[in-house]
Amino acid sequence: MSHVLILGGDGYLGWPTAMHFSARGYKVTVVDNYFRRHICDKLDVGMLYPIPTLVERARIWHKQTGYEIQVIIGDLIDPELMRSLFTGQNLNYQWPVNAKFAGSPETVVHYAEQPSAPYSLMNYKTANFTLSNNLLVTNNLMFAVKDLSPDTHIIKLGTMGEYGTPNIDIEEGWIDIKHKGREDRFLFPRQAGSIYHTSKIMDTDLMWFGCRTWGLKVTDLMQGPVYGMETSESIIDDRLKTIFNYDELFGTVINRFIVQAIVGHPLTVYGKGEQIRGYINIRDTLQCVHAAEKNPPKSGELNIYNQIMETFTVNQLAALIQEAAHNIGHNVEIEKVKNPRIEKEEHYYNPNYQGLINLGITPHYLTIDSVQKMIETVFKYREYIDTNVIRIGIQW
Ligand SMILES: NC(=O)c1ccc[n+]([C@@H]2O[C@H](COP(=O)([O-])OP(=O)(O)OC[C@H]3O[C@@H](n4cnc5c(N)ncnc54)[C@H](O)[C@@H]3O)[C@@H](O)[C@H]2O)c1
Repeated sequence: MSHVLILGGDGYLGWPTAMHFSARGYKVTVVDNYFRRHICDKLDVGMLYPIPTLVERARIWHKQTGYEIQVIIGDLIDPELMRSLFTGQNLNYQWPVNAKFAGSPETVVHYAEQPSAPYSLMNYKTANFTLSNNLLVTNNLMFAVKDLSPDTHIIKLGTMGEYGTPNIDIEEGWIDIKHKGREDRFLFPRQAGSIYHTSKIMDTDLMWFGCRTWGLKVTDLMQGPVYGMETSESIIDDRLKTIFNYDELFGTVINRFIVQAIVGHPLTVYGKGEQIRGYINIRDTLQCVHAAEKNPPKSGELNIYNQIMETFTVNQLAALIQEAAHNIGHNVEIEKVKNPRIEKEEHYYNPNYQGLINLGITPHYLTIDSVQKMIETVFKYREYIDTNVIRIGIQW
């Protein structure tokens, strides 16, 4: 049984990933410092429904399935905590009570970052936090693996936002450049649209440094905005659902539009709405991370995949959600609001995202039917929706 360590295991993607691997017989350890919960409380941008603590979730999971997910609560910017995850020394497990070190992990899935572009641009303090948190966690991980477990495969989440919206096709991470009669292969040019995205570019650079200098094995998954909440594992018990934010700070666009449709708030399209991005269902995130785990790179290689399943303009998303909502009795308007972000509102966008499909992913596409199902699920929690957090007014 292989051991998978999930950094950021309490998060939107971390908890479903933990259950996904656990259900398939892996030994799973999750680590989190509850940053995401605490910051949502502090900024009063609550989640759609109450979420049990990580320890409670692990207990419920164990009761329902018999599988154990080991839980450690701590801040991964502490290098000693990070290192102890690879040595087992001084590890303080919160659950189970008799937890034993499962051995140095064969795979680490690194989600433990501040993931919001608007949060990173609230002010200089949140920008500083984003840079220091994301880079220090990544650097601590790189050094721990290099020093203590160089065979461990690091799967790190990047973002399609690292590439920006260039006027050429976006390759999967790498580009061959001919220059003055010579040629070489480089990381695809990156141009971030926020401090958060800048931190992700720097993470990628750190990992590439670690690969070419110390022979680390890294997969970087350049993911687009994720939507959805249910996975094959969460449907067995409502309390196992992942966190779901619908506010302007932490909610991703499709999740936000679904909630807006339910409360009769006009769907807030920023600017002209012709911004194109790649999107992915949370179930496919799990498939992709698992496929990456099964296909580790060789020592010294940085494998990069573009983790999206389809592309839409924001106008297309709004129209799709409006139609789906209308079909089940929610009349909803679309409102073009002044764009709070600095971004191109009309642009070329043609990313390649064949790599993960070639590894056997079967995509879940965004359809009228799948949107209706999401609306029906979220509708059950409508009493918890706080309409004040739909528009907060963060500007770039
Ligand atoms: N959700 C998306 O749409 C999306 C899209 C592209 C990329 N990503 C990337 O995927 C990763 C996970 O995103 P998510 O949506 O699950 O975010 P999330 O905020 O829900 O999860 C991240 C988790 O990491 C924890 N964390 C943060 N800093 C930590 C630290 N110093 N020590 C310990 N724990 C820490 C947080 O408490 C949180 O539970 C991030 O790296 C993000 O950049 C997400």
